[in-house]
Amino acid sequence: MKTRNRIVKEYKRLADAYDRKWAFYIEATTRETIARLPLRAEDRLLDIGCGTGALLHRLAAAHPACHLAGMDPVAKMLEAARHKLSPAVELRQGWAEQLPFADSRFDIVVSCNMFHFIDRPVDALGEIRRVLQPGGRLVITDWCGDYWACRLFEQYQRLLGRAHARIYRARECRRLLEQAGFSVEAIDTYKINWRWGLMTIRCIHAPAWAQQQACSLGYRTMTISTLTRYAVLAAAGGVNRGGDSTS
Ligand SMILES: C[S@@+](CC[C@H](N)C(=O)[O-])C[C@H]1O[C@@H](n2cnc3c(N)ncnc32)[C@H](O)[C@@H]1O
Repeated sequence: MKTRNRIVKEYKRLADAYDRKWAFYIEATTRETIARLPLRAEDRLLDIGCGTGALLHRLAAAHPACHLAGMDPVAKMLEAARHKLSPAVELRQGWAEQLPFADSRFDIVVSCNMFHFIDRPVDALGEIRRVLQPGGRLVITDWCGDYWACRLFEQYQRLLGRAHARIYRARECRRLLEQAGFSVEAIDTYKINWRWGLMTIRCIHAPAWAQQQACSLGYRTMTISTLTRYAVLAAAGGVNRGGDSTS
């Protein structure tokens, strides 16, 4: 609860100046995220921790037929988002650990610069899995603990008592996602300047049957990945579940 209070207090104070103060960072991270977002023409997309709506704003312009939704716990950040987005973009207040959306509502969930605030990542990933269609995609961009400058900056944030849970190394994030039932397709690590080392992770919601088979075979990372790719192909009509190619 302490972390949540701090987040709300910090972002309430920051909301009006956020776009100006973080202009370079927002531009670079939304650009890098969109470059890795496998969005199709009429997809239903949810941006978790959407803040002032920068990512949704760019997506609305580039993909007018997509159904876009954003969610953030801080009313003032959502107010700023509302100013730049059309009423067609649904905005809701809430936390990643308890998403205010129905099961299987989305084809894609994205989160940009938010994951290091989550203090209960297992709950949040479970919720993301619930609101995603089986076979749907999750794309996360966040600070990457593989870069020393980011680790140092994290310590600095802690010293200042800033709202913050923790940053992850790429392999820690992979493990967390796979344990939550996602199959990791790619983790790109990159720098946007000397200070910020980021990662963008793209993964697929592994269907329940693929997870069950992986468990019965004695849970192995590769098994989940292989079965998920297979499931996605099956959903697209490329193979059947008996394993015979139908093409
Ligand atoms: C650094 S800002 C990023 C905003 C936006 N995604 C961007 O890239 O400009 C982090 C946002 O995450 C939100 N946030 C923090 N903890 C959250 C949580 N547990 N669930 C959902 N959103 C959260 C904050 O309110 C804030 O708006």
